[in-house]
Amino acid sequence: MSSRRSRDELLKRFSSRYAEEGTSAGRLVERCVIGANVGVNGYTTVAQADRLVEALDLSPESRLLDLGSGRGWPGLHVAALAECHVVLTDVPEAAVRSAQRRSAGATDRVSLARASATHLPFAARSFDAICHADTL
Ligand SMILES: C[S@@+](CC[C@H](N)C(=O)[O-])C[C@H]1O[C@@H](n2cnc3c(N)ncnc32)[C@H](O)[C@@H]1O
Repeated sequence: MSSRRSRDELLKRFSSRYAEEGTSAGRLVERCVIGANVGVNGYTTVAQADRLVEALDLSPESRLLDLGSGRGWPGLHVAALAECHVVLTDVPEAAVRSAQRRSAGATDRVSLARASATHLPFAARSFDAICHADTL
């Protein structure tokens, strides 16, 4: 499959999902299964995300990259716990806009980039750690 075709399919699959913020029933399921309303679009729970701070050895000086961050999960949560900087990346514009809305209270610690993990616009050694949750 060409990278152009896979990018088009990715956009088609996820754009509509991120265009809406979900239903009250969806938010109830998210709270019960994931542990909080974090805008998740996958299966990574709050308890699992909490472990990333130690597993990635994050400190307030760290720069974290979240690939395929959707609405900002888990990068926003992990960066808030570690008090570090995070760059959230995803391909659909609706995902990046949703992540931007969710990061409104932490703009000094959060950057966003609409980018594919296959063609990242960052210089080598820009990050201390990378996370990705349910990103195919
Ligand atoms: C199942 S969702 C998970 C989103 C988020 N990490 C979460 O857990 O809620 C998978 C995400 O990976 C993104 N994705 C897939 N391929 C990608 C690629 N090559 N580069 C960047 N993001 C990609 C999709 O757009 C989608 O937002």
